[in-house]
Amino acid sequence: MTDLPIHPLSTEHKLLRGVARDFAQKEIAPIAAEFDESGEFPHMTIRKMGALGFMGIEVLEKYGGAEMDSLAYVLALEEISKVDASHGVIMSVNNSLYCHGIMQFGTEDQKIKFITPVASGNAVGAYSLTEPQSGSDAGTMKSRAIRNGDFYVLNGHKSWVTSGPVADYLVVFMMTDPDKKQKGVSAFLVDGKTKGLIRGRKEPKLGIRASSTSELTFEDCCIPSENRLGEEGEGFKIAMSILDAGRIGIASQALGIAEAAYEAARQYASQREAFGQPIGGFQGTGFKIADMKTRIEASRLLLYNAAIAKENSKSTGKRYSLEASMAKLFASETAMFVAHQSLQIHGGIGYSRDIPVERYFRDAKITEIYEGTSEIQRLVISRSELGLK
Ligand code: CAA
Repeated sequence: MTDLPIHPLSTEHKLLRGVARDFAQKEIAPIAAEFDESGEFPHMTIRKMGALGFMGIEVLEKYGGAEMDSLAYVLALEEISKVDASHGVIMSVNNSLYCHGIMQFGTEDQKIKFITPVASGNAVGAYSLTEPQSGSDAGTMKSRAIRNGDFYVLNGHKSWVTSGPVADYLVVFMMTDPDKKQKGVSAFLVDGKTKGLIRGRKEPKLGIRASSTSELTFEDCCIPSENRLGEEGEGFKIAMSILDAGRIGIASQALGIAEAAYEAARQYASQREAFGQPIGGFQGTGFKIADMKTRIEASRLLLYNAAIAKENSKSTGKRYSLEASMAKLFASETAMFVAHQSLQIHGGIGYSRDIPVERYFRDAKITEIYEGTSEIQRLVISRSELGLK
């Protein structure tokens, strides 16, 4: 594994990466296939990851986190995702879509109440933006939050909520003033036990099957007005800003999947013989290995660069949307490319559930879809480059 030449990893970073790697090998590798098959949420290992500080890596210690930097976060997430992308996305959502947003936009009381249990791994956090009719065009949501004295009453349908079936706490986006469109969206912190919050069926997914995903219905859910995150009307910008952090998490997950698929292919190409030589000796296979390795290292550079931009933004307030979108776009398309090539190099055995290559292939696809499709990342990048936004 290479260090980034312009930003060599510190001893602390390398230590954390080693702890994450050991944990993933010892605790997650033995159960990954079983949980993928059953689709059960891996509560036990998630709690253990929390005890190691992995559920709130950048969160301050006083709110239950590990108080490390953004580079530390992506290094640990990459190691977890290398072994299992389902654990990877649960970790990513807890850290980026949930804790990060409250750290950035929450009040002191909100941080104590809503971050501490999740960052310490004793509770699960989720982020709920998408609705059945609005995915990429997130500003066209229909869910309504209506103020009534010291409360808001929430009504509507949300979909594709990662950890939706099990989340203890959620960041939820709803319209408070539909006439203002995007500028009428507000963000709320919702306790999962709130009356009227109904969890829909678990989505039967192609990959990341151990991470539970569902619809959520809000039927006259009454929450205190002090649970509003940010000001009324700021919700869309909060959602987008949180997604910048989230996209860096998904880029780390994608890099982890790509590395696992690559390593399996590299070993197989060196050992498997055909026509009197290891198949890696044939140029058709050797060139695949070269392209896989090169794209992985390019993804790593974009990812670490985005993590450093995110870290710098904590003091400068500068947006890192461009860096995050480029990292997510390239790493997710690399994960899909590498998983595809790895399966092809393995041939028949790659198609079997006896080895995890088919799981990498299934898991890779979602990284091109959630937290902004590849098309949305290209939109963000091109608008930024052309000065259109
Ligand atoms: N940070 C801060 N502000 C931002 C921002 C960001 N990253 N991006 C946009 N904004 C601001 C803009 O500056 C603009 O502000 P002004 O009106 O004051 O100028 C405002 O938000 C509106 O921005 P746009 O005009 O660019 O909005 P748009 O409607 O054109 O949409 C988009 C832009 C990039 C397409 C956006 O809608 C988007 O990212 N869509 C994809 C949504 C997505 O990723 N969904 C995934 C949900 S999570 C998930 O996958 C499930 C899960 O659980 C993991």
